[in-house]
Amino acid sequence: MAKILIGFMGAGKTTIAQSLDPNYVDMDAIITERIGMPIADFFAKEGEAAFRKIESEVLEELLKTNQVVSTGGGVVESEHNRRLLAANADTIYLKIDLETVRQRIQADTKNIRPLFVNNTKEAFQALFDRRQALYEEAASRVILVSGKTPAEIVEEIG
Ligand code: S3P
Repeated sequence: MAKILIGFMGAGKTTIAQSLDPNYVDMDAIITERIGMPIADFFAKEGEAAFRKIESEVLEELLKTNQVVSTGGGVVESEHNRRLLAANADTIYLKIDLETVRQRIQADTKNIRPLFVNNTKEAFQALFDRRQALYEEAASRVILVSGKTPAEIVEEIG
């Protein structure tokens, strides 16, 4: 069964996946390779729906493996994906607070998040609020990560 990390942008999914298993798979990296351009460019060119379609395809492929997987924060937008995650994987929700998210995303100039740069502060907060229930629906476990070091989080995941 795959071990899949879900959570909002900036929750530390990639960092924790890497600590859990150096051979982890990063869904956004696979998608970036497939679309042949940065995710922000693909959103601008093809739109979010086209991105979500590819994201679901990649998720379905990875659910057939036993790997540690870090997902993109929006993988839970699709009900189909949420059901798959709940039934077919050890899905761990890394739950983070919004202020930490903002600080991390702003500092991360290498990975531009279209949903952050293209939204108002209020719309971004609304997205964060709306997503909480979706992560909980898909998760088998919830880990509170605010204020914790990666080592502490990894220890808690076990
Ligand atoms: C998204 C999160 C991003 C990336 C894309 C959309 C989202 O991944 O997949 O920008 O909808 O929350 P991270 O969670 O790794 O930032």
